[in-house]
Amino acid sequence: MKAAAKLLLRATCAFFLAAPLFLAQFVQAQFAGMTKPKQYPWSNTALSPDARADLVIQQMTLDEKILLMHGQGMPFFTHGPSESNGGAGFTEAIPRLGIPSIQMADSAYGVTRGAAAGRYSTALPNDLAAACSWDPQAAYAYGGLIGRELRAEGYNMTLGGGVNLPREPRDGRTFEYMGEDPLLAGTMDGYVEKGVQSNGVIGDLKHYAMNDQESGRNAVNANIDKRSMRETDLRAFQIALSISHAGAVMCSYNRVNGDYSCENHYLLTDVLKKDFHFDGFVLSDWGGTHSAVKASHAGLDMEQPDQYFYGEAMKKAVQSGAVSEAELDGHVHRILRTIFASGVFDHPTVTSVPDADAGAKLAEQIAEKSIVLLKNEDHVLPLTDGGTVVLIGGHADVGVLTGGGSAQVDAPGGTVVAPPAPKGPMDAFMHPQWLRDSPLRALSAELPGAKISYLSGDDLDAAADAARRADVAIVFAYQWESEGMDLPTLNLASAQNQLIETVAAANPKTIVVLETGSPATMPWIDKVAGVVEAWYPGIRGAEALAGILTGKVNPSGKLAITFPKSDADLPHPTLVTPPPASQPNFAAMGGDISNFMSMMAKGLPPFQTSYDEKLEVGYTWYDAEKKAVLFPFGFGLSYTTYAYADLAVEKGDALTVSFTVKNTGKRAGTEIAEVYAALPAAAQEPPKRLIGWSRVELAAGESRKVSIAVPRDRLTIYDGASDSWKLVPGAYVILAGGSSQDLDLRRTVRLP
Ligand code: BGC
Repeated sequence: MKAAAKLLLRATCAFFLAAPLFLAQFVQAQFAGMTKPKQYPWSNTALSPDARADLVIQQMTLDEKILLMHGQGMPFFTHGPSESNGGAGFTEAIPRLGIPSIQMADSAYGVTRGAAAGRYSTALPNDLAAACSWDPQAAYAYGGLIGRELRAEGYNMTLGGGVNLPREPRDGRTFEYMGEDPLLAGTMDGYVEKGVQSNGVIGDLKHYAMNDQESGRNAVNANIDKRSMRETDLRAFQIALSISHAGAVMCSYNRVNGDYSCENHYLLTDVLKKDFHFDGFVLSDWGGTHSAVKASHAGLDMEQPDQYFYGEAMKKAVQSGAVSEAELDGHVHRILRTIFASGVFDHPTVTSVPDADAGAKLAEQIAEKSIVLLKNEDHVLPLTDGGTVVLIGGHADVGVLTGGGSAQVDAPGGTVVAPPAPKGPMDAFMHPQWLRDSPLRALSAELPGAKISYLSGDDLDAAADAARRADVAIVFAYQWESEGMDLPTLNLASAQNQLIETVAAANPKTIVVLETGSPATMPWIDKVAGVVEAWYPGIRGAEALAGILTGKVNPSGKLAITFPKSDADLPHPTLVTPPPASQPNFAAMGGDISNFMSMMAKGLPPFQTSYDEKLEVGYTWYDAEKKAVLFPFGFGLSYTTYAYADLAVEKGDALTVSFTVKNTGKRAGTEIAEVYAALPAAAQEPPKRLIGWSRVELAAGESRKVSIAVPRDRLTIYDGASDSWKLVPGAYVILAGGSSQDLDLRRTVRLP
């Protein structure tokens, strides 16, 4: 009996000791069985993405190929059962072949609305703001964060990457782009998309090309000569592509020189696929596809978000021979090779909650580098910890503004400023959202010794009165921007100019903080002591701004876009607006987006815009036309000062431009040192172009030698007649300094 009991005890102990092991092995086996993807010949990661794509194509039916080439609607109008993750677009999976669905989300400055987890997305400072950091590493981190959050929210492709140059700075999407210089914009956007792709997510560049205004964007025909296009707007795409190797390029709504961008052979095939060696796929902007045969021949690989042309119509075109199987396979190959090259096939997304704290931290760091100090008379800034400060206007008691449209990153918990009453389904899309991040609170935390209050500014007399009684008055002014609209003018909206004038008249220590997505004109500039451009500063914008205003952070951002004195100085003083037939009224159509999309697909009567300013975009326009500006490209103040000396230029495969930058002030800072070149007269170029820059961190009193490599292709011009890039022989003047209009150092070199 005793022996039997011992045996039982031993058996029980053995069971309890061994059970967890067995259980673990059992679970592991089940889990492995569940997660181990089925192996296909194209699962072999030793093969190139192209070889893997070809293996899949050999097994595909015509229907499967076509399935990969179009979307299935949007969250509010899908066809049949939907695999959509809630983003703006997707392609269906092909389970038989193990091909995953491509889940796409807009993510210009963070992952947008859509998936349920979208409310955790980080709203970074807007793209133009980030460009003002001139910091490729920050751009990479910016993209890296977007890529991580996309994956966490179940997406494997971004629809971000806007890099259009603001030929029309009143464009309602200027905030989504990277400024006016092709080298700066292309570099910054390239690093953003490189960061996105480092997460196994397909990167994107858009809107290809010449989509420089929103008014009548589906109908406008942009007229521009080849050389101007190649050296400016397309150059930005080329540079972004060479850095990022983005897997996708989105063609734009508008026509270019007569053909829709999405059926423009020159743009899609001659330039993008041949000259730029783009090996990813081209997808149409939403409703930007207008044909099957012409678009296919031109180089469009995928229609989004629907299948007006790349579904049944494409099938018929292939069956009739109007589109050859080889051409079709070419499109499918590009989509598949991107799925393999990006990691989307080998590393399926696993959803999780994004790390909102880490996101906020990065957003704050980037905002600190992006905010630009434009005016600081008599050292009105940084603020000291004492006295009274009144903040006026701009909802600075509760929030900071964001940019709208498809780029809108929803404010967590909803917009903190009550939205106007909803009028239709596109309401959220077209109304301002304010992030819950209070400048009043952030500034009070930095200045515990000061008495800080807030006033809406709605009552001008009350504003003047409060300003008069305060030591310092800070007016928060803003300009909301969104896709689907343009700004009628660069003047601040409603009565904000009047508010600033009133406050400035009451208090000489008036500072204006701007939250805008484009440049703003400043009729009051001589009357205020300080101006700070905060852009749409993101989820920790208030903290970053408080850091700048109080000097905890020394400002280092510099303008990636010129601030003109007035609309009259723009290349097109009056915004080109479409005739009514070319601008259907979405609201009058009952807000039915499916109907709207199909109308777009049918096409609208074109109207013209001519970019006859040609090569003169942004600062090159003001330089060439000798127009004085409010604040030039590349300009930004600091709480310290810098001096430049000893410019030398060495000729080699690349030019090496070196000089010394000295911090001549009393505190540490980061100076963005800029290098420009004036090309020989025979090149017939605008007076100068940016050819390089460096961010130089300097302690007080420190000086450092800076060396910048300038590859020769930064000095070439595009010859439209021979369709090639040329280095014009002659004298090149190399200029260095702290902004496009502060270039004291110059040296001439002769290039053969
Ligand atoms: C915009 C694109 C965007 C797409 C999907 C279009 O209206 O122009 O930038 O990616 O919608 O939301």
